[in-house]
Amino acid sequence: MPAGPLPEPFIASLDESALDLADASTLPPACYTSRDFYEFEKEALYYHEWLCVGRADWIPKTGDYFTTRIVGEPIVVARTLDDKITAMSSVCQHRAMLVAEGSGNARGFVCPYHHWSYALDGTLVGAPAMSKTCNFDKKAYSLPRFAVELWNGFIFVNFDLEAAPLAPRLAKVDEAIAEYELDKAEGVRPETVQQLPWNWKVMFENNNDGYHASRLHQGPMHDFVPSGLAEFPDSEPSDAGFLRYNGTLHPDASFNATQRAILPIFPGLSDEGRNRLVFANVPPSLSLVMTCDMIIYLLIRPDGPETHELDTGLLFAPGAMADPAFAHKLDVNERGALSIIAQDMHVDALVQEGLRSRYAPRGRYSWQEGAQGQLNKWLIHRYKATQDRLVAAQPADTALTSVS
Ligand code: FES
Ligand SMILES: [Fe+2]
Repeated sequence: MPAGPLPEPFIASLDESALDLADASTLPPACYTSRDFYEFEKEALYYHEWLCVGRADWIPKTGDYFTTRIVGEPIVVARTLDDKITAMSSVCQHRAMLVAEGSGNARGFVCPYHHWSYALDGTLVGAPAMSKTCNFDKKAYSLPRFAVELWNGFIFVNFDLEAAPLAPRLAKVDEAIAEYELDKAEGVRPETVQQLPWNWKVMFENNNDGYHASRLHQGPMHDFVPSGLAEFPDSEPSDAGFLRYNGTLHPDASFNATQRAILPIFPGLSDEGRNRLVFANVPPSLSLVMTCDMIIYLLIRPDGPETHELDTGLLFAPGAMADPAFAHKLDVNERGALSIIAQDMHVDALVQEGLRSRYAPRGRYSWQEGAQGQLNKWLIHRYKATQDRLVAAQPADTALTSVS
């Protein structure tokens, strides 16, 4: 069922989260727990924004494909005969079996159930024993196709074929991260999908929270990236992304026991770049943690109001993976990063529990939480526009009276 408008008092209450940070309150807890709000959010964000699903180098050859899902929509991404990346629903247009699972290389997709077959671009090319079926036009039963855009080697899809292009609205982020030359960065497709029991925004906010760095992560693995050196460049709600910088106490810092890069640093980094971390965000699905020798990217894929799936990928400077000692060096970096991530995940799970409480607050922000303010403005701009659209499309008496 399509989402309807939310109660007007609830929508009005969002305004206090869109104020400048010194005056702002956190979002209403229902934004993280409510099924009604999740359905609304699909309409406000997921069905119209660009969603990152992976990297172009996961499918280098014709016929390579991978599958993913986001807000319950199964997606297959493939490289076609004319070397284009295409993304489409993997839901068979006969009786809804999924035509692809996992990843691999194929000449097309044959649905295992009754063998309808689709070309790599989703066109239905074969449907056995349908000759007696009246008015059956194969052309009307291709896999639904999505808009695709590549940005810095990442594949973005959009369910909305009319969506404005992504890249022009990422100009500021692009400029800030240009020296990492992300389209040349190397990495492999992450094999593990994590199922995480907290709302996608809890994840997104944690990854961008400059405030907790010197507190939750206090100790030798993180003290060289202190909260006091957090910076939040301005963004507009209409921008598609935003940034956090965090200065470091020494150059070429990296999250491992040596506190310094042990993998090759990204060769284009300036002195400024070698003395800070960059957190680059393209909500609602992509969040990047950029250190001088390793980039961690999170693909955040909700599957319910209080759960999401997460792909965590790594990118390295060109040639880094050719070092015979690469796996050993990476192991050192991963141990450091994982010890920090474990602290974050513990908090995330308990924050979700707290958000379900009758005592869940609308709290206030420190200046070191500037990225939360930017995310709130990005979100509320879209929530309010969607509410207006839904109200215009539906009689007022169909609006929900509460958010549950
Ligand atoms: S469901 Fe795919 S061919 Fe029948
Ligand atoms: Fe953290």
